[in-house]
Amino acid sequence: MQSQEQNILEIKKLKADKNAIILAHYYQTGDIQDIADFVGDSLALSQKAASNSADIILFAGVKFMAETAKILSPEKKVLLPDLMAGCSLANSCKASDFKKFLNENPGRTVISYVNTNAEIKAMSDIICTSSNAIQIVESLPRDEKIIFAPDRNLGNYVLNKTGYDMIIWNGTCHVHEEFSLEAIIRLKEENPDAKIIVHPECELPVRMVADFIGSTSALLQFTKKDPGDCYIVATEAGIIHQMRKENPDKMYIPVPPIDSTCGCSECSFMKLITIEKILNCIKFEKPEINIDQKILIKAQKPIIRMMEISEKLGL
Ligand code: 13P
Ligand code: SF4
Repeated sequence: MQSQEQNILEIKKLKADKNAIILAHYYQTGDIQDIADFVGDSLALSQKAASNSADIILFAGVKFMAETAKILSPEKKVLLPDLMAGCSLANSCKASDFKKFLNENPGRTVISYVNTNAEIKAMSDIICTSSNAIQIVESLPRDEKIIFAPDRNLGNYVLNKTGYDMIIWNGTCHVHEEFSLEAIIRLKEENPDAKIIVHPECELPVRMVADFIGSTSALLQFTKKDPGDCYIVATEAGIIHQMRKENPDKMYIPVPPIDSTCGCSECSFMKLITIEKILNCIKFEKPEINIDQKILIKAQKPIIRMMEISEKLGL
């Protein structure tokens, strides 16, 4: 068996030989973020997937992200090192249930979070991410009636910020709904100067104690620009790798979930991806993401609409 350093060298060589790129989400482990060609949040990763000159995109993330890359670049081979890398939030919105929900609530513009399967995107009018959800809603006329799916926490956050008429699907992310408010309060007592920074997928009580709420990239930007030197971080702990790289002298404390002894919060789906699986994936060009052509074509429109609105707004 070869060492991790040898695995990484082989990945780099195969990447160059095959004109492949690795796109990694901030929730991947630090070693994976460090070998990636591009690391970002869901919006930046979609933008990168739509404009690159590689023949192969290897996605170090979860399935809905790799599907989005395939929808945006159907001519490219898109690989995901482990097809079991799903998402509890995407799984909370099944196509048959969503179809029924849309039929029960006709005449509304359907905004779906990127954390959905391709079938849900194909039933949507516009996609959003946590970076642009407010701006996507506000791009519509003030009296537009909206369905927002599937994250109820992000949906309620956007509803409170915009005041639009929104019906919200009742889905959640198993990582973000589990952060312990008690632990946050205790950490704040122990570190009174620390700022509490929170992803909008968190539950309301956690959002209410936040000094700053934002997507992973917004949280990263905040820790870069803010004059403070200590942060209580309520999102998946992988983001702390980039925060430490950008500002190694600052302190970052991951918020633990309600029921945990490990002291950190990790997405079990994101963490299915490993360096070894990436090596096998790029070597054998499997598993590959393939999407039914009809669904792919339908899903393209709402994603492109999001990209156009985001580009116009400089996001
Ligand atoms: P962003 O990448 O938009 O911050 O979303 C976080 C997330 O939960 C991705 O699964
Ligand atoms: Fe899905 Fe939550 Fe994991 Fe993001 S952190 S991929 S929303 S389960």
